[in-house]
Amino acid sequence: MSLEKFPHFVHSKQQIINEFPEFIDKICQLWKTEFIPGKKGYPKKIKEEIESFFKPFAKSFSHLTIEQISQILINLLTLNSPEYAQHCQRTANLAYQLALNSGMFDSEDLTDIYYTGLLHDIGKMIIPRKILESKNGLSIEEKDILRLHTIMSFLILNIFPQTKRVAKLILFHHEREDGNGQFKVEKTNIDPKIWFIIIADYFDAMSSQRPYKKPLTAEKSLEEIIKDNGAVPKSTLNHMEFFLKKRNLI
Ligand SMILES: [Fe+2]
Ligand SMILES: [Fe+2]
Repeated sequence: MSLEKFPHFVHSKQQIINEFPEFIDKICQLWKTEFIPGKKGYPKKIKEEIESFFKPFAKSFSHLTIEQISQILINLLTLNSPEYAQHCQRTANLAYQLALNSGMFDSEDLTDIYYTGLLHDIGKMIIPRKILESKNGLSIEEKDILRLHTIMSFLILNIFPQTKRVAKLILFHHEREDGNGQFKVEKTNIDPKIWFIIIADYFDAMSSQRPYKKPLTAEKSLEEIIKDNGAVPKSTLNHMEFFLKKRNLI
């Protein structure tokens, strides 16, 4: 049986790119009509829309590797925000290098760390661009929507069998060692791999240009993280400091 006879079963990499703008328009509309400020959780209709868009592609892409799936998802994020797509790439590289230098992980963990870094903000592909690019601060409602990007990342990545494992790690990328992170998870319940994502994410946020701020030097970026007592464990900070010194960055 030739697949050409059933074109609706075959979703190409180009097709997901072509259909993405219409999907984003629908999602942006749902943020406007379905999101209730102050209410816990996220609009169920957004989850349904995410599933109906990505599930057929997940089936068609079942033969692809995690690397190929990640590339497709990063391409979609680039359509909504090239800056965050670059941030994801830098976070992945830094988290991987730090974890590798720490000597704490085997190659499977290192692969997970790389893809967790690469895909941690993938949910920002469905956060309205206006919120991502705001220069003058966000309203309370906009901040609430932005915070939901961790859950949006999870919902998208949980659909693809190749990224299911990193989806669970990504949920924790805005936790803190002192327990005051997004979901207030105790540090004993946090996978040690995630601290390398959190510190790389933090460092990149400090050292890169954002619509609302100028980039800091590597030294100042590290200082900011150290000043933020309780953000990450001391041991993770030590790995970062050692790594930056070794590279003559501080
Ligand atoms: Fe994030
Ligand atoms: Fe990030």
